[in-house]
Amino acid sequence: MVTAGVGEHVPFASPQPGWAEQDPADWWKACGLAVRQALSRSGLRGADIGCVGFSGQMHGAVLLDAQGAVIRPALIWCDQRTGAQAAALARAPGTAHIIEWTLNPPLTNFTLTKLLWVRETEPSNWARVRRLLLPKDYVRYRLTGEFAIDVADASGTLLLDVAARQWSARMLAETGIDAELLPALYESPEICGRISSAGAKATGLAEGTPVVAGAGDQAAGAVGMGIVRRGAVSVTIGTSGVVFAATDRPALDPRGRLHTFCHALPGRWHVMGVTQAAGLSLRWFRDRFGAGPEDGRDPYDRLVAEAETAPAGAEGLLWLPYLMGERTPHCDPGARAALTGLSLSHSRAHVIRAILEGVAFSLKDSFTIFDEMEVPVEQIRLGGGGARAPLWRQIQADIYNHGVQLLEAEEGAAFGAAILAGVGAGNWSSVEEACTQAVRVTREIAPNSETAAHMARRYLAYRQLYPALKAAFAAG
Ligand code: XUL
Repeated sequence: MVTAGVGEHVPFASPQPGWAEQDPADWWKACGLAVRQALSRSGLRGADIGCVGFSGQMHGAVLLDAQGAVIRPALIWCDQRTGAQAAALARAPGTAHIIEWTLNPPLTNFTLTKLLWVRETEPSNWARVRRLLLPKDYVRYRLTGEFAIDVADASGTLLLDVAARQWSARMLAETGIDAELLPALYESPEICGRISSAGAKATGLAEGTPVVAGAGDQAAGAVGMGIVRRGAVSVTIGTSGVVFAATDRPALDPRGRLHTFCHALPGRWHVMGVTQAAGLSLRWFRDRFGAGPEDGRDPYDRLVAEAETAPAGAEGLLWLPYLMGERTPHCDPGARAALTGLSLSHSRAHVIRAILEGVAFSLKDSFTIFDEMEVPVEQIRLGGGGARAPLWRQIQADIYNHGVQLLEAEEGAAFGAAILAGVGAGNWSSVEEACTQAVRVTREIAPNSETAAHMARRYLAYRQLYPALKAAFAAG
Protein backbone atom coordinates (compact mmCIF):
# COMPACT_ATOMS: atom_id res chain seq x y z
CA MET A 1 0.00 0.00 0.00
CA VAL A 2 1.49 3.37 -1.01
CA THR A 3 -0.04 6.68 0.02
CA ALA A 4 0.85 9.93 -1.70
CA GLY A 5 0.31 13.34 -0.15
CA VAL A 6 2.21 16.57 -0.41
CA GLY A 7 3.64 17.52 2.94
CA GLU A 8 3.72 21.06 1.61
CA HIS A 9 0.79 23.27 2.46
CA VAL A 10 -1.01 24.41 -0.73
CA PRO A 11 -2.13 27.92 0.33
CA PHE A 12 -5.51 29.46 -0.40
CA ALA A 13 -6.14 33.00 -1.54
CA SER A 14 -8.63 35.16 0.34
CA PRO A 15 -9.00 38.15 -2.03
CA GLN A 16 -11.85 39.50 0.15
CA PRO A 17 -12.79 38.73 3.79
CA GLY A 18 -14.51 35.34 3.98
CA TRP A 19 -13.43 34.33 0.45
CA ALA A 20 -11.30 31.22 -0.05
CA GLU A 21 -10.05 30.21 -3.49
CA GLN A 22 -7.46 27.84 -4.94
CA ASP A 23 -6.19 27.22 -8.43
CA PRO A 24 -6.97 23.61 -9.44
CA ALA A 25 -3.71 23.63 -11.45
CA ASP A 26 -1.85 23.70 -8.10
CA TRP A 27 -3.55 20.46 -7.00
CA TRP A 28 -2.69 18.79 -10.27
CA LYS A 29 0.94 19.89 -9.98
CA ALA A 30 1.05 18.70 -6.35
CA CYS A 31 -0.47 15.35 -7.33
CA GLY A 32 2.24 14.74 -9.96
CA LEU A 33 4.95 15.57 -7.39
CA ALA A 34 3.39 13.51 -4.59
CA VAL A 35 2.81 10.38 -6.68
CA ARG A 36 6.34 10.48 -8.11
CA GLN A 37 7.75 10.99 -4.63
CA ALA A 38 5.65 8.15 -3.15
CA LEU A 39 6.77 5.78 -5.91
CA SER A 40 10.44 6.62 -5.59
CA ARG A 41 10.43 6.51 -1.76
CA SER A 42 8.78 3.10 -1.75
CA GLY A 43 11.02 1.79 -4.54
CA LEU A 44 8.01 0.86 -6.70
CA ARG A 45 7.33 1.28 -10.40
CA GLY A 46 4.00 2.50 -11.76
CA ALA A 47 3.25 -1.02 -13.00
CA ASP A 48 3.44 -2.33 -9.40
CA ILE A 49 0.35 -0.31 -8.43
CA GLY A 50 -2.84 -2.38 -8.69
CA CYS A 51 -5.39 0.38 -8.20
CA VAL A 52 -5.47 4.08 -7.31
CA GLY A 53 -7.69 5.64 -4.60
CA PHE A 54 -8.61 9.30 -4.09
CA SER A 55 -9.32 11.68 -1.29
CA GLY A 56 -9.36 15.44 -1.00
CA GLN A 57 -10.95 18.50 0.50
CA MET A 58 -14.74 18.50 0.19
CA HIS A 59 -17.41 20.97 -1.02
CA GLY A 60 -15.24 22.95 -3.49
CA ALA A 61 -16.57 24.01 -6.90
CA VAL A 62 -14.31 23.45 -9.91
CA LEU A 63 -16.01 24.79 -13.02
CA LEU A 64 -14.93 23.56 -16.45
CA ASP A 65 -15.77 24.82 -19.94
CA ALA A 66 -16.57 22.74 -23.02
CA GLN A 67 -12.85 22.04 -23.55
CA GLY A 68 -12.37 20.86 -19.96
CA ALA A 69 -10.45 24.03 -19.03
CA VAL A 70 -10.88 25.62 -15.58
CA ILE A 71 -13.03 28.77 -15.87
CA ARG A 72 -12.15 30.56 -12.60
CA PRO A 73 -10.31 29.69 -9.36
CA ALA A 74 -12.21 27.11 -7.33
CA LEU A 75 -14.34 28.38 -4.45
CA ILE A 76 -13.25 25.98 -1.71
CA TRP A 77 -14.86 24.38 1.35
CA CYS A 78 -14.36 27.24 3.83
CA ASP A 79 -15.44 30.05 1.49
CA GLN A 80 -18.12 32.13 3.20
CA ARG A 81 -19.16 34.57 0.45
CA THR A 82 -22.36 32.72 -0.36
CA GLY A 83 -24.43 33.88 2.64
CA ALA A 84 -27.03 35.52 0.36
CA GLN A 85 -27.41 32.34 -1.74
CA ALA A 86 -27.74 30.13 1.36
CA ALA A 87 -30.33 32.53 2.82
CA ALA A 88 -32.28 32.58 -0.48
CA LEU A 89 -32.36 28.76 -0.53
CA ALA A 90 -33.56 28.79 3.09
CA ARG A 91 -36.54 30.91 1.96
CA ALA A 92 -37.27 29.03 -1.28
CA PRO A 93 -37.52 26.12 -1.72
CA GLY A 94 -37.10 26.41 2.08
CA THR A 95 -34.88 24.74 4.67
CA ALA A 96 -37.50 22.14 5.62
CA HIS A 97 -37.87 20.96 2.00
CA ILE A 98 -34.12 20.95 1.43
CA ILE A 99 -33.61 18.82 4.55
CA GLU A 100 -36.37 16.50 3.30
CA TRP A 101 -34.70 16.07 -0.11
CA THR A 102 -31.00 16.10 0.85
CA LEU A 103 -30.97 15.53 4.67
CA ASN A 104 -28.98 18.76 5.08
CA PRO A 105 -29.81 22.47 5.42
CA PRO A 106 -28.50 25.14 3.01
CA LEU A 107 -25.06 26.24 4.28
CA THR A 108 -22.48 28.50 2.69
CA ASN A 109 -19.96 25.65 2.62
CA PHE A 110 -21.98 23.41 0.36
CA THR A 111 -21.12 23.39 -3.33
CA LEU A 112 -24.57 24.37 -4.58
CA THR A 113 -24.36 27.83 -2.99
CA LYS A 114 -21.06 28.40 -4.82
CA LEU A 115 -22.68 27.51 -8.15
CA LEU A 116 -25.51 29.94 -7.45
CA TRP A 117 -23.03 32.68 -6.52
CA VAL A 118 -21.16 32.30 -9.82
CA ARG A 119 -24.46 32.17 -11.73
CA GLU A 120 -25.66 35.38 -10.06
CA THR A 121 -22.49 37.45 -9.89
CA GLU A 122 -20.38 36.22 -12.80
CA PRO A 123 -22.90 35.50 -15.58
CA SER A 124 -20.28 35.45 -18.33
CA ASN A 125 -18.29 32.79 -16.46
CA TRP A 126 -21.47 30.84 -15.72
CA ALA A 127 -22.47 30.85 -19.41
CA ARG A 128 -19.29 28.87 -20.18
CA VAL A 129 -19.77 26.21 -17.47
CA ARG A 130 -20.27 22.70 -18.89
CA ARG A 131 -19.03 20.59 -15.95
CA LEU A 132 -18.85 20.78 -12.17
CA LEU A 133 -16.24 18.76 -10.32
CA LEU A 134 -15.13 18.60 -6.69
CA PRO A 135 -11.40 19.08 -5.97
CA LYS A 136 -10.22 15.46 -5.91
CA ASP A 137 -12.47 14.69 -8.88
CA TYR A 138 -10.69 17.36 -10.91
CA VAL A 139 -7.43 15.53 -10.21
CA ARG A 140 -9.12 12.28 -11.27
CA TYR A 141 -10.29 13.98 -14.48
CA ARG A 142 -6.71 15.02 -15.27
CA LEU A 143 -5.50 11.47 -14.53
CA THR A 144 -8.20 9.53 -16.37
CA GLY A 145 -10.34 11.86 -18.49
CA GLU A 146 -13.44 10.69 -16.51
CA PHE A 147 -16.03 12.90 -14.83
CA ALA A 148 -16.81 10.88 -11.70
CA ILE A 149 -17.61 11.33 -8.00
CA ASP A 150 -18.41 9.10 -5.03
CA VAL A 151 -21.67 9.41 -3.07
CA ALA A 152 -19.79 10.42 0.11
CA ASP A 153 -18.22 13.54 -1.42
CA ALA A 154 -21.36 14.23 -3.49
CA SER A 155 -23.30 14.44 -0.19
CA GLY A 156 -21.56 17.76 0.51
CA THR A 157 -22.88 19.43 -2.63
CA LEU A 158 -26.50 19.78 -1.36
CA LEU A 159 -27.54 18.26 -4.69
CA LEU A 160 -27.59 14.63 -3.53
CA ASP A 161 -30.57 12.71 -2.20
CA VAL A 162 -28.43 11.31 0.61
CA ALA A 163 -30.97 8.69 1.71
CA ALA A 164 -31.29 7.28 -1.84
CA ARG A 165 -27.61 7.83 -2.79
CA GLN A 166 -28.67 9.48 -6.09
CA TRP A 167 -28.60 13.05 -7.44
CA SER A 168 -31.76 14.79 -6.21
CA ALA A 169 -33.95 15.47 -9.24
CA ARG A 170 -36.05 17.68 -6.98
CA MET A 171 -33.13 19.90 -5.87
CA LEU A 172 -31.89 20.19 -9.44
CA ALA A 173 -35.34 21.18 -10.69
CA GLU A 174 -35.96 23.68 -7.88
CA THR A 175 -32.60 25.41 -8.34
CA GLY A 176 -32.39 25.22 -12.13
CA ILE A 177 -29.06 23.37 -12.14
CA ASP A 178 -28.66 21.21 -15.25
CA ALA A 179 -28.03 17.53 -14.40
CA GLU A 180 -25.65 17.42 -17.40
CA LEU A 181 -23.15 19.47 -15.37
CA LEU A 182 -22.80 16.75 -12.76
CA PRO A 183 -20.27 13.90 -12.75
CA ALA A 184 -21.33 10.23 -12.74
CA LEU A 185 -21.99 8.79 -9.25
CA TYR A 186 -20.25 5.74 -7.77
CA GLU A 187 -19.84 4.03 -4.42
CA SER A 188 -16.37 4.77 -2.98
CA PRO A 189 -14.69 1.37 -3.60
CA GLU A 190 -16.10 1.09 -7.17
CA ILE A 191 -13.77 1.31 -10.17
CA CYS A 192 -14.69 4.36 -12.25
CA GLY A 193 -11.84 4.82 -14.73
CA ARG A 194 -8.27 4.04 -15.77
CA ILE A 195 -5.09 6.11 -15.89
CA SER A 196 -4.77 7.77 -19.29
CA SER A 197 -1.51 8.20 -21.17
CA ALA A 198 -1.43 11.89 -20.13
CA GLY A 199 -2.11 10.86 -16.52
CA ALA A 200 0.68 8.28 -16.70
CA LYS A 201 3.12 10.83 -18.10
CA ALA A 202 2.37 13.34 -15.36
CA THR A 203 2.68 10.94 -12.44
CA GLY A 204 4.73 7.87 -13.33
CA LEU A 205 1.70 5.61 -12.86
CA ALA A 206 1.08 3.02 -15.58
CA GLU A 207 -1.47 3.72 -18.29
CA GLY A 208 -4.57 1.56 -17.81
CA THR A 209 -4.24 1.25 -13.98
CA PRO A 210 -7.78 1.19 -12.53
CA VAL A 211 -8.98 4.00 -10.32
CA VAL A 212 -11.71 3.77 -7.63
CA ALA A 213 -14.10 6.59 -6.82
CA GLY A 214 -12.56 7.27 -3.37
CA ALA A 215 -14.10 9.73 -0.92
CA GLY A 216 -13.81 13.24 0.51
CA ASP A 217 -11.26 13.76 3.27
CA GLN A 218 -13.65 13.04 6.14
CA ALA A 219 -15.21 9.80 4.88
CA ALA A 220 -11.86 8.50 3.60
CA GLY A 221 -10.23 9.57 6.87
CA ALA A 222 -12.89 7.64 8.78
CA VAL A 223 -12.14 4.52 6.72
CA GLY A 224 -8.42 5.01 7.44
CA MET A 225 -9.26 5.19 11.15
CA GLY A 226 -11.63 2.20 11.10
CA ILE A 227 -14.75 4.30 11.77
CA VAL A 228 -17.11 2.09 9.82
CA ARG A 229 -19.59 0.70 12.39
CA ARG A 230 -22.23 2.28 14.64
CA GLY A 231 -20.59 3.33 17.94
CA ALA A 232 -17.23 4.21 16.36
CA VAL A 233 -16.39 7.93 16.38
CA SER A 234 -13.34 9.88 15.22
CA VAL A 235 -12.17 13.39 16.00
CA THR A 236 -9.82 14.79 13.39
CA ILE A 237 -8.15 18.15 13.84
CA GLY A 238 -6.71 19.41 10.57
CA THR A 239 -7.37 22.93 9.32
CA SER A 240 -10.99 22.25 10.24
CA GLY A 241 -12.01 19.89 13.04
CA VAL A 242 -14.50 17.11 12.54
CA VAL A 243 -16.34 14.74 14.86
CA PHE A 244 -17.50 11.83 12.73
CA ALA A 245 -19.80 8.92 13.66
CA ALA A 246 -20.65 5.99 11.40
CA THR A 247 -24.35 5.04 11.29
CA ASP A 248 -26.29 2.20 9.70
CA ARG A 249 -29.13 4.50 8.61
CA PRO A 250 -29.25 8.16 7.57
CA ALA A 251 -29.59 9.72 11.08
CA LEU A 252 -30.96 13.23 10.91
CA ASP A 253 -30.54 16.23 13.21
CA PRO A 254 -33.82 18.05 12.50
CA ARG A 255 -32.08 21.34 13.35
CA GLY A 256 -29.41 20.72 10.71
CA ARG A 257 -26.48 21.33 13.09
CA LEU A 258 -24.70 18.17 11.93
CA HIS A 259 -24.16 16.99 8.37
CA THR A 260 -25.83 13.70 7.42
CA PHE A 261 -23.84 12.22 4.54
CA CYS A 262 -23.31 8.89 2.78
CA HIS A 263 -20.34 6.97 4.13
CA ALA A 264 -17.62 5.49 1.92
CA LEU A 265 -19.14 2.02 2.42
CA PRO A 266 -22.18 0.96 0.45
CA GLY A 267 -25.29 0.97 2.68
CA ARG A 268 -23.72 3.08 5.46
CA TRP A 269 -24.07 6.75 6.36
CA HIS A 270 -22.43 9.06 8.83
CA VAL A 271 -23.14 12.19 10.83
CA MET A 272 -20.48 14.77 11.43
CA GLY A 273 -20.06 18.06 13.21
CA VAL A 274 -17.57 20.58 11.86
CA THR A 275 -15.49 23.27 13.55
CA GLN A 276 -14.34 25.54 10.74
CA ALA A 277 -11.12 26.82 12.33
CA ALA A 278 -9.63 24.03 14.47
CA GLY A 279 -5.95 23.63 13.48
CA LEU A 280 -6.50 26.93 11.70
CA SER A 281 -6.89 28.65 15.11
CA LEU A 282 -3.37 27.57 16.07
CA ARG A 283 -2.00 28.43 12.62
CA TRP A 284 -3.57 31.89 12.90
CA PHE A 285 -1.83 32.39 16.26
CA ARG A 286 1.49 31.21 14.84
CA ASP A 287 1.20 33.44 11.77
CA ARG A 288 0.21 36.56 13.71
CA PHE A 289 2.21 36.21 16.93
CA GLY A 290 4.98 33.75 16.11
CA ALA A 291 5.92 30.39 17.59
CA GLY A 292 8.46 31.69 20.13
CA PRO A 293 12.25 31.47 20.00
CA GLU A 294 13.60 29.20 17.24
CA ASP A 295 15.18 26.08 18.81
CA GLY A 296 15.14 23.64 15.93
CA ARG A 297 11.74 22.18 16.87
CA ASP A 298 8.64 22.36 14.69
CA PRO A 299 6.79 25.67 15.37
CA TYR A 300 3.64 23.81 16.46
CA ASP A 301 5.66 21.70 18.92
CA ARG A 302 7.07 24.91 20.38
CA LEU A 303 3.59 26.42 20.72
CA VAL A 304 2.20 23.32 22.43
CA ALA A 305 5.22 23.15 24.78
CA GLU A 306 4.56 26.78 25.70
CA ALA A 307 0.87 25.98 26.38
CA GLU A 308 1.96 23.21 28.73
CA THR A 309 3.31 25.81 31.16
CA ALA A 310 -0.24 27.16 31.73
CA PRO A 311 -2.69 25.21 33.93
CA ALA A 312 -5.77 23.33 32.64
CA GLY A 313 -8.56 25.86 32.16
CA ALA A 314 -6.01 28.59 31.33
CA GLU A 315 -7.01 30.44 34.50
CA GLY A 316 -10.37 31.49 33.16
CA LEU A 317 -9.37 32.31 29.57
CA LEU A 318 -11.71 30.97 26.89
CA TRP A 319 -11.25 30.84 23.11
CA LEU A 320 -14.25 30.75 20.80
CA PRO A 321 -12.68 29.47 17.57
CA TYR A 322 -15.02 31.06 15.01
CA LEU A 323 -12.34 32.69 12.81
CA MET A 324 -14.15 31.56 9.63
CA GLY A 325 -17.77 31.68 10.88
CA GLU A 326 -19.01 28.38 12.28
CA ARG A 327 -20.92 25.32 11.18
CA THR A 328 -21.63 23.08 14.21
CA PRO A 329 -23.59 23.97 16.25
CA HIS A 330 -24.55 27.47 15.05
CA CYS A 331 -24.55 27.30 11.22
CA ASP A 332 -23.58 30.99 11.29
CA PRO A 333 -21.11 32.33 8.70
CA GLY A 334 -21.19 35.67 10.58
CA ALA A 335 -19.91 34.18 13.86
CA ARG A 336 -16.48 35.46 14.89
CA ALA A 337 -13.71 34.27 17.19
CA ALA A 338 -13.32 35.67 20.69
CA LEU A 339 -10.79 35.45 23.50
CA THR A 340 -12.54 36.20 26.78
CA GLY A 341 -11.59 36.43 30.42
CA LEU A 342 -8.24 38.20 29.95
CA SER A 343 -6.55 39.71 32.99
CA LEU A 344 -3.17 41.32 33.56
CA SER A 345 -1.70 38.03 34.74
CA HIS A 346 -2.38 36.10 31.53
CA SER A 347 0.54 35.27 29.24
CA ARG A 348 1.05 33.91 25.73
CA ALA A 349 1.08 30.41 27.24
CA HIS A 350 -2.44 30.90 28.64
CA VAL A 351 -3.67 32.12 25.27
CA ILE A 352 -2.23 29.12 23.41
CA ARG A 353 -3.66 26.73 26.01
CA ALA A 354 -7.05 28.48 25.71
CA ILE A 355 -6.88 27.97 21.92
CA LEU A 356 -6.22 24.23 22.30
CA GLU A 357 -9.03 23.94 24.84
CA GLY A 358 -11.46 26.15 22.88
CA VAL A 359 -11.09 23.97 19.79
CA ALA A 360 -11.83 20.87 21.90
CA PHE A 361 -14.88 22.60 23.51
CA SER A 362 -16.14 23.40 20.05
CA LEU A 363 -15.72 19.73 19.03
CA LYS A 364 -17.47 18.65 22.24
CA ASP A 365 -20.56 20.51 20.98
CA SER A 366 -20.90 17.71 18.38
CA PHE A 367 -20.86 15.06 21.13
CA THR A 368 -23.59 17.00 22.93
CA ILE A 369 -25.74 16.82 19.78
CA PHE A 370 -24.91 13.09 19.33
CA ASP A 371 -26.35 12.58 22.85
CA GLU A 372 -29.56 14.38 21.87
CA MET A 373 -29.84 12.27 18.69
CA GLU A 374 -28.98 9.06 20.55
CA VAL A 375 -25.98 8.41 18.30
CA PRO A 376 -23.90 5.99 20.42
CA VAL A 377 -20.25 6.78 21.21
CA GLU A 378 -18.39 3.60 22.16
CA GLN A 379 -14.87 4.43 21.07
CA ILE A 380 -13.20 7.72 20.10
CA ARG A 381 -10.19 7.70 17.80
CA LEU A 382 -8.05 10.78 17.22
CA GLY A 383 -6.56 11.91 13.93
CA GLY A 384 -4.72 14.86 12.37
CA GLY A 385 -2.62 17.41 14.26
CA GLY A 386 -4.78 17.02 17.37
CA ALA A 387 -3.62 13.41 17.68
CA ARG A 388 0.07 14.25 17.35
CA ALA A 389 0.58 16.67 20.24
CA PRO A 390 0.45 14.84 23.62
CA LEU A 391 -1.06 17.88 25.38
CA TRP A 392 -3.84 18.26 22.81
CA ARG A 393 -4.68 14.53 23.12
CA GLN A 394 -4.98 14.80 26.90
CA ILE A 395 -7.03 18.00 26.62
CA GLN A 396 -9.39 16.13 24.29
CA ALA A 397 -9.70 13.09 26.60
CA ASP A 398 -10.45 15.43 29.54
CA ILE A 399 -12.95 17.62 27.66
CA TYR A 400 -14.80 14.70 26.03
CA ASN A 401 -14.46 12.84 29.37
CA HIS A 402 -13.82 9.66 27.41
CA GLY A 403 -10.79 7.53 26.54
CA VAL A 404 -9.24 8.44 23.18
CA GLN A 405 -7.39 5.98 20.94
CA LEU A 406 -4.35 6.63 18.75
CA LEU A 407 -3.69 4.73 15.55
CA GLU A 408 -0.63 3.37 13.83
CA ALA A 409 -1.36 5.06 10.46
CA GLU A 410 -1.43 8.82 10.99
CA GLU A 411 -2.49 10.03 7.58
CA GLY A 412 -6.10 8.85 7.88
CA ALA A 413 -7.52 10.16 4.59
CA ALA A 414 -4.66 8.96 2.38
CA PHE A 415 -4.64 5.62 4.21
CA GLY A 416 -8.43 5.36 3.79
CA ALA A 417 -8.10 6.13 0.05
CA ALA A 418 -5.50 3.35 -0.22
CA ILE A 419 -7.84 0.93 1.61
CA LEU A 420 -10.65 1.83 -0.83
CA ALA A 421 -8.25 1.16 -3.73
CA GLY A 422 -7.30 -2.18 -2.13
CA VAL A 423 -10.96 -3.16 -1.99
CA GLY A 424 -11.43 -2.01 -5.61
CA ALA A 425 -8.47 -4.15 -6.63
CA GLY A 426 -10.04 -7.17 -4.91
CA ASN A 427 -7.42 -7.48 -2.13
CA TRP A 428 -10.23 -7.46 0.43
CA SER A 429 -13.86 -8.40 -0.04
CA SER A 430 -15.23 -5.33 1.77
CA VAL A 431 -14.15 -2.04 3.34
CA GLU A 432 -15.12 -3.41 6.74
CA GLU A 433 -12.91 -6.47 6.32
CA ALA A 434 -10.05 -4.25 5.12
CA CYS A 435 -10.39 -1.99 8.19
CA THR A 436 -10.41 -4.97 10.57
CA GLN A 437 -7.14 -6.18 9.06
CA ALA A 438 -5.32 -2.92 8.30
CA VAL A 439 -6.26 -0.41 11.03
CA ARG A 440 -4.32 -0.83 14.28
CA VAL A 441 -4.81 1.00 17.59
CA THR A 442 -1.48 1.76 19.27
CA ARG A 443 -2.54 3.49 22.50
CA GLU A 444 -5.51 4.60 24.55
CA ILE A 445 -5.37 7.76 26.68
CA ALA A 446 -7.75 7.97 29.64
CA PRO A 447 -9.25 11.20 30.95
CA ASN A 448 -7.97 12.55 34.26
CA SER A 449 -11.11 12.61 36.41
CA GLU A 450 -10.22 15.76 38.35
CA THR A 451 -9.32 17.76 35.22
CA ALA A 452 -12.36 16.37 33.41
CA ALA A 453 -14.65 17.70 36.18
CA HIS A 454 -12.95 21.13 35.95
CA MET A 455 -13.28 21.13 32.15
CA ALA A 456 -16.97 20.17 32.41
CA ARG A 457 -17.52 23.39 34.40
CA ARG A 458 -15.48 25.41 31.88
CA TYR A 459 -17.55 23.92 29.03
CA LEU A 460 -20.71 25.35 30.63
CA ALA A 461 -19.03 28.78 30.64
CA TYR A 462 -17.87 28.29 27.02
CA ARG A 463 -21.46 27.50 25.97
CA GLN A 464 -22.57 30.90 27.24
CA LEU A 465 -20.20 32.84 25.00
CA TYR A 466 -21.83 32.59 21.57
CA PRO A 467 -25.37 33.52 22.70
CA ALA A 468 -23.89 36.45 24.64
CA LEU A 469 -21.77 37.69 21.72
CA LYS A 470 -24.02 36.93 18.73
CA ALA A 471 -25.49 40.43 18.54
CA ALA A 472 -22.04 42.00 18.82
CA PHE A 473 -20.78 39.82 15.93
CA ALA A 474 -23.75 40.83 13.80
CA ALA A 475 -23.14 44.51 14.58
CA GLY A 476 -19.48 44.27 13.55
C1 XUL B 1 -15.98 18.76 5.89
C2 XUL B 1 -15.03 19.82 5.47
C3 XUL B 1 -13.59 19.56 5.58
C4 XUL B 1 -12.89 20.05 4.34
C5 XUL B 1 -11.46 20.48 4.58
O1 XUL B 1 -17.31 19.10 5.72
O2 XUL B 1 -15.41 20.87 5.06
O3 XUL B 1 -13.32 18.24 5.80
O4 XUL B 1 -12.97 19.07 3.37
O5 XUL B 1 -10.71 19.63 5.29
